[in-house]
Amino acid sequence: MIITGKYPSLRLRRNRKKNWSRRLTQENSLSTNDLILPIFLVDGKNKKQTIKSMPGVYRYSVDNLSLIIDRAIKNNIPMVALFPYTKPKLKDLYGSESLNENNLVCRAIRFIKKKYKDKIGIMCDVALDPYTSHGHDGLLKNGKIINDETVEILVKQSLLQAQMGCDVIAPSDMMDGRIGKIRKSLDKNNFQDVQLLSYAVKYASNFYGPFRDAVGSKNLLRGDKKTYQMDYSNSLEAIREVSLDIKEGADMVMVKPGLAYLDIIKSVKENFKIPVFAYQVSGEYSTIVNGIDKGIVDEKIIIEILTSFKRAGANAIVTYFADRIANKL
Ligand code: PBG
Repeated sequence: MIITGKYPSLRLRRNRKKNWSRRLTQENSLSTNDLILPIFLVDGKNKKQTIKSMPGVYRYSVDNLSLIIDRAIKNNIPMVALFPYTKPKLKDLYGSESLNENNLVCRAIRFIKKKYKDKIGIMCDVALDPYTSHGHDGLLKNGKIINDETVEILVKQSLLQAQMGCDVIAPSDMMDGRIGKIRKSLDKNNFQDVQLLSYAVKYASNFYGPFRDAVGSKNLLRGDKKTYQMDYSNSLEAIREVSLDIKEGADMVMVKPGLAYLDIIKSVKENFKIPVFAYQVSGEYSTIVNGIDKGIVDEKIIIEILTSFKRAGANAIVTYFADRIANKL
């Protein structure tokens, strides 16, 4: 890069002097078009449940979804992401409930599509962890998460979500080869227009704790997810993951978590020039909320951090702050 000019004829503070000038020279900004709103679902009627480790975030029963979706649409949020809290008695070794066409996610998709049509997009996680009795994203056999057998179930889970009306299928399981298999099955079944957002770069992170509490898998999880999610020391591996998923048919890719991985967002964007989404995960959310609630930092850090995602190259951000900040943008 060439830097031209020098002090004193060049003074960078000149552009910063007035508010209007700062606005004119601003390079990145956050808008409601950048926000994806995660919603936790719970069984039952007329429920809006607090989640202890995520202050300000709730689980909604399907009949109560309008409480949050009406506002999301009013605030111009383009898409919601659905996550189920599955009752313990519905969980088993194989995550069978994931293939039940009347499971929480399927009922929620049908409700939203019927009521709102295409006013808002729906994205659904593909993975088994909300449904397995051991809390893993895949099938557990002799202490190992088995890849290819898991992918077969994920293909069925994806097809079911597409049949219900899901717009964006988002596999978050990190099994090898699932994007290609899912794309093929969607195409074969006439769902060529259903988009695939691959969680291509998902790290085995300590920031997921509150989410596991929210979907009820925290106390079930045996061991860790390091044999399928990535080591946070690695970045070149992220490039390999993304290039494979693009070849297999991913329309967009996710980097997850967010704040500690801005370098990864940037390098994926620079290398592939495709839509890159960032996931500001539950542990990031709750840590920030705690700092704000204790008066340690001002809530302005929310927009500052989300803008840093944009600066790094993210097209959109999955964030639990979406509902809180949308009407401020
Ligand atoms: C499950 C999944 C996880 C998150 C989204 N999908 C948790 C995990 O991998 O253990 C985490 C999201 C968050 O922490 O906000 N496949």
